[in-house]
Amino acid sequence: MHLLVLVLLSAGGTEGRGVGSGCPAVCRCESGGALQRVDCVDAGLTSVPSNLSSFTSSLDVSMNELSELSAHVFGSLHLLLELSLQNNHLKKVPSEALQNLKNLRSLRLDANLLSRLPAASFKGLRSLRHLRLDDNVLTQVPVLALRDLPALQALTLALNDIRHVPDGAFSALGQLLLLDLSFNRISSFPAAIRHLNNLRDLNLQNNNISVVPGNSFSGNPSIEAINIQNNPLHTVGHSSFQLLPDLQTLSLSGSSIAEFPDFTGTNRLKTLSITGSHISTLPDNMCEELPHLQRLDLSHNMIHSLPSFSSCKKIQNM
Ligand SMILES: *[C@@H]1O[C@H](CO)[C@@H](O)[C@H](O)[C@H]1NC(C)=O
Ligand SMILES: *[C@@H]1O[C@H](CO)[C@@H](O)[C@H](O)[C@H]1NC(C)=O
Repeated sequence: MHLLVLVLLSAGGTEGRGVGSGCPAVCRCESGGALQRVDCVDAGLTSVPSNLSSFTSSLDVSMNELSELSAHVFGSLHLLLELSLQNNHLKKVPSEALQNLKNLRSLRLDANLLSRLPAASFKGLRSLRHLRLDDNVLTQVPVLALRDLPALQALTLALNDIRHVPDGAFSALGQLLLLDLSFNRISSFPAAIRHLNNLRDLNLQNNNISVVPGNSFSGNPSIEAINIQNNPLHTVGHSSFQLLPDLQTLSLSGSSIAEFPDFTGTNRLKTLSITGSHISTLPDNMCEELPHLQRLDLSHNMIHSLPSFSSCKKIQNM
């Protein structure tokens, strides 16, 4: 009887905790078709479980006590699509550890203790689309390691200790749609973004940027959202925010800019926030230039007179 129940469980069961072959005792495994998702979250693990099925498509080892990865730990997981290693104590990623994961699409390494990522760290991850490296202790953009990721679409490097972004940092990331460099200590505007021809979403909030030079976004014709709030920004080039036809959201709040930016040719802007800055006048034709504006927040400035808002027909929130 006992045996029968077990057999039934493993044959018909789509879920189990250490039941059946290939599911480590402390994990939960869920199968869908031939593939299996393995969830070992918050299980006090100090190493990645061995014995994982080579049909594992998703492995979540987040919130454990991992401090290192052995070189061949994921060696047989050729079908892995998602790997979550966030909230551990990893200080490095050996170059051999990930190199067979040719199908991997999503890799989370956020909230670890990574201080550098050598050139070969991501070698072989040619399908990787999402890479999260936020909340580590990186002092540099891992420029060489990023050259091996031709399919990357989203990269987060927020909450590190990066001070400078070298000019060629993103030259191999032509597919990138989202870049998050917020909460670092970057002091000069990262000209390296000009290589990101498909970029839609850029977050530079809470850095130490004081100048946005003219034409800063000329390499990003599809940009939709730019966040530069909470930087000591005092100068914005006249052409910086011109001719960005897809730009919908811009935040420059918490800056020291005194002039309202020129939005010529950037006429789809829907949300604009420049609170807490030093703006004293608004252009008379602001609403003609920005006919799609829905949300406008210019609170805590030094504005003493307002233009006519009668052409701001879509405005909902001001
Ligand atoms: C691996 O699987 C084998 C057979 O299924 C088992 O005997 C062994 O204890 C497992 N090892 C670990 C570390 O789970
Ligand atoms: C911010 O940048 C200025 C130079 O523009 C520099 O003097 C200062 O030390 C930087 N602050 C931090 C916190 O990095």
